[in-house]
Amino acid sequence: MNVTVRGRTRHYRTVAFDSAKNEVLLIEQRLLPHHFEIIGTKNFKETTKAIKDMIVRGAGAIGATAAYGLAQGARAFRGTDLKKFQRHVEEVYHTLKSARPTAVDPVNAMNDVRVTMSVGETVEEQQALALAAAEEFSNHDVQHCEAIGQHGAKLIRSGMKVLTHCNAGWLAFVDIGSATAPMYAAQEQGKKFHVFCDETRPRSQGATLTAWELAQQGVSHQIIADNAAGHLMQRGQIDLVIVGSDRTLGRTGEVANKIGTYTKAVLAKRHGIPFYVAIPLSTIDWNMKSGFDIPIEERDASEVLGAWGVTSKGKREYVRVANPGSGAFNAGFDVTPAELITGIITPAGIFKPKELWSKRKQLGHACCLINK
Ligand code: MRU
Repeated sequence: MNVTVRGRTRHYRTVAFDSAKNEVLLIEQRLLPHHFEIIGTKNFKETTKAIKDMIVRGAGAIGATAAYGLAQGARAFRGTDLKKFQRHVEEVYHTLKSARPTAVDPVNAMNDVRVTMSVGETVEEQQALALAAAEEFSNHDVQHCEAIGQHGAKLIRSGMKVLTHCNAGWLAFVDIGSATAPMYAAQEQGKKFHVFCDETRPRSQGATLTAWELAQQGVSHQIIADNAAGHLMQRGQIDLVIVGSDRTLGRTGEVANKIGTYTKAVLAKRHGIPFYVAIPLSTIDWNMKSGFDIPIEERDASEVLGAWGVTSKGKREYVRVANPGSGAFNAGFDVTPAELITGIITPAGIFKPKELWSKRKQLGHACCLINK
């Protein structure tokens, strides 16, 4: 999407690759909305750390980063011994996979890269194929988000008030976003609507990232406290909810997303408000049989006990908010059951969550869909 920094407007992707330097290029999302900076990771270990430390975050964005990270690691290998190369690639794969467990996109993305690479007969060929496959994953991510926008825009009418949670915007993907794609498409169609962004404690991706994105695109919006949605729903102030997902189970239609999503889905059901989840195909896990099996990331207690912000002098600082000496429990995600979800907006259309399995051929593989 376009970013205007100090009066200059330019198009950026959240994740890109510098093949000459063998670096993954990332927007440093921890500094937003106060400071816009691109960083380059020099090797796959730095790339893994960037995912772990949330320099880059969001399902599609960490998927693309992992795909590039795998290509980066493969390209750094010196020698012609294919067996040694394959062992090295395995190590790179498992290191990147361990960075963040809940989102399935990095695993799906790296599996795509590995399948494509395996056709190469030499180390050199496999290295070239790895980068081509990572680029392809990235481009598909953008195309999927565009298609989500076209399907999802139909749900938004002028005058509507739309709630979203966390950041499933372009910063969470390579471009455009999943939950925000229908909003951007509706805006292009000339519709006027208003978005409420849940602040999304503890890391405040709604207050910092989604609000920044919407402001950059000129979409009318307000940030609300995480606890405010029920009140607004009760007063008829929310017409539609659209969120993203870090892992959606193809067999059951259950949706893992940022902590607090389940609560919003329960509230939406209580008030008869449509609740949609927008996902590219890389977010679907076709193997897992129950939402209880989804690995839920537990993050550092400090995220709950305090907050990061910027001082009046522009310095980024952490402040302790909670009672000194108290601890905290910090689950990063929750799982929303299928019966609370009105529809899943995919690049292939909008489906009931429990329809995903019967539509699996249509939704089966990113490449097949895009080439049709
Ligand atoms: O912890 P994060 O910021 O990586 O969490 C991911 C998210 O932003 C949300 O869960 C989002 O709604 C889905 S990711 C497209």
